[in-house]
Amino acid sequence: MFDKLASQPNDPLLALIGLYNDDSRTDKIDLGVGVYRDDMGNTPVLRSVKAAEKLLLETQSSKSYVAPEGDRVFLDLLWDLVGGKETGRFAAGVQTPGGSGALRLASDLIARAGTGRLHLGLPSWPNHAGIFGATGLNVETHVYFDVPTQDVRFSSVMKAFSEAQRGDAVLIHASCHNPTGAGFTPAQWAELASVIAERRLVPLIDSAYQGFGAGIEEDVAGLRTLIAAAPEALVAVSCSKSFGIYRERTGAIFAVAQTQAAADTARSNLVTLARTSYSMPPDHGAAVVRTILASDVLRKDWMDELNAMRGRLQGLRRELASALSDGWQLAPQLAEQQGMFSLLPLKEADVLTLRKAHGIYMPTSGRINIAGLKSADIERVATVLTPLLG
Ligand code: LMR
Repeated sequence: MFDKLASQPNDPLLALIGLYNDDSRTDKIDLGVGVYRDDMGNTPVLRSVKAAEKLLLETQSSKSYVAPEGDRVFLDLLWDLVGGKETGRFAAGVQTPGGSGALRLASDLIARAGTGRLHLGLPSWPNHAGIFGATGLNVETHVYFDVPTQDVRFSSVMKAFSEAQRGDAVLIHASCHNPTGAGFTPAQWAELASVIAERRLVPLIDSAYQGFGAGIEEDVAGLRTLIAAAPEALVAVSCSKSFGIYRERTGAIFAVAQTQAAADTARSNLVTLARTSYSMPPDHGAAVVRTILASDVLRKDWMDELNAMRGRLQGLRRELASALSDGWQLAPQLAEQQGMFSLLPLKEADVLTLRKAHGIYMPTSGRINIAGLKSADIERVATVLTPLLG
């Protein structure tokens, strides 16, 4: 059987980790995969996570199964954090292996019960199309962002949504758009909510960077506008970045509906989809998040840590934009964009030269992870980028 298989290429983004590690230059710079780094280039375990792990180690009395949908207390606390208490809607969640697991279950559910069509604005996180395609969805694309002008093409998004058919799914990034960092204004969120409600579309909202954009509450404001308007919604949450627990694979998918019965029915389907795929999610990361969110002291410390990570990112954005501003007229937009990523108008050949000649690593799309910069690197990075951008 194996002889009938063709070898598959590595995921380009994940392969970049290996390329970077194999480079022996000590002044190399990693602007690749989306993990937060401090000014030493490390991705430390958060204090609040360490404290929660210590508590779990001391108090956990069993490693037996939890429940088919995962840890219910984790799910309730996470939904309060993301959806808020006053949604006017009913939510039912299933714990998943990371945000990707949540997107996969959502996609399976759309394939099972929806029109089988999903509208995706491009550029997007490359794995979105991969996940939706793997479940057989018909993915229809439209332009979300124009790289040369660094503008969100809102009219193109509205056109795609206005022409979508009743019941179609639409993928929306909650905040800190991956890969562009460019999001909707509050007025645009309201317009999106209207068209989604009017056309009875099903928003699949990907929330993977809460707290890295404008603030912990601010980053879910648009999401809350949508779920208050949409008759039904799916919200995929990743805890990887906000809690810095990437390898613990912690996330959840929430079905949001106008009645508890409808949300519960959707959840029962998500649970059976998980059962026939990986049965049940891993526990540790969810137990850590539950422990943090359930404790006033740990929650406060976690919020302080998350706010500090956002502060560092915002500072780096301002510094890089200022260092690029003499030679690139769109540099101010870099400072306005939010979260870890921006998408620079670079040619693939330029990206490869940056790697080879300067040890600066980013995917060939030209996406940069701002968190990979150290303050001391900014002048050097700006000096080599300016002639390529200007
Ligand atoms: C990224 O976009 O770099 C992250 O979401 C990591 C990943 O899995 O692709």
